[in-house]
Amino acid sequence: WTTSGASSGSSGKMPSKYFTYKDIPFPENFYSPEVLSFVEEEFQVQEDDVFNVTFPKSGTFWMVEILSLIRSMGDTSWVRSFPTWERAPWIEITPKEKDLPTWAQPRLLSSHLPIQLFPKSFFQSRAKVIYTTRDPRDVCTSLFHFSKIMTFFKQAESSEDFIEEFLSGAVPYGSWFDHVKGWLGLREQSNFLLVTYEELKKDIRGSIERIANFLGVHLSSAALEQVVDNCSFQKMKENPMSNFSQMSSQYVAKDRGTFFRKGVTGDWKNLFTVAQSERFGQIYQEKMKGFPVHLPWEDP
Ligand code: A3P
Repeated sequence: WTTSGASSGSSGKMPSKYFTYKDIPFPENFYSPEVLSFVEEEFQVQEDDVFNVTFPKSGTFWMVEILSLIRSMGDTSWVRSFPTWERAPWIEITPKEKDLPTWAQPRLLSSHLPIQLFPKSFFQSRAKVIYTTRDPRDVCTSLFHFSKIMTFFKQAESSEDFIEEFLSGAVPYGSWFDHVKGWLGLREQSNFLLVTYEELKKDIRGSIERIANFLGVHLSSAALEQVVDNCSFQKMKENPMSNFSQMSSQYVAKDRGTFFRKGVTGDWKNLFTVAQSERFGQIYQEKMKGFPVHLPWEDP
């Protein structure tokens, strides 16, 4: 599955192409089959690694901030000195494991990979995974806007086209449905924690305590308040190490939008028409039929 993006015409973007690795689409200017294969076959997961895993636009960088602040017990010097992608490097982007920044153990690592492409060594380890997921309608909406600012993403002609691409898994990292069902297969394991964007919005303090607990970290109440305060949308947006202002213009067209767009739940209502919402709901029902986990957005 390879496709050409929109012409540079109206968007001013260069055409982008996706290649597939084991049926999953990846933008070719950012990823390579060699690195993906290395990560899957040879990457050596360590017993105490902590993985921040998400489908794109589900709250990945919010979780990086939370995990960074938990690690530093609420102290903000680390999150104010190093960019987010150095604090929790991407395993599928960093060319070789040895090139990962060597922070104190345990390593904090990020990934958007679907479970079938994750390092094989993980499955023989006790490394921890925190999997953050989000209402797929909001993921789709966030990704639609994000694709306009990322130079290596295919530019959708319209929201209508984009929603169809999202539903069919023709977006980077493939099908949201397969991603979530795949990773949630680990939900009974003690080294796996499921977090939702919705619960972070609803109860950030309780969520941070749950995450710290999972990591075996005890936060004092002062440290907890520091984590809560410094992982807010506003604080992250203002922090140059967290707001992507440091990212090269080779990758991001900063004049066309921002990573810190709205940070709310339910923004899909501003993008989807009634017909698109009904179609999305119908496909959701088909794809998630019989899946035993109840997710917050499934509430009536
Ligand atoms: P929106 O585009 O809906 O605003 P990711 O980090 O996986 O790329 O996800 C990006 C989404 O998370 C964006 O959503 C962004 O605004 C939101 N986000 C990032 N930090 C946040 C925070 N501290 N609180 C709430 N939402 C946040």
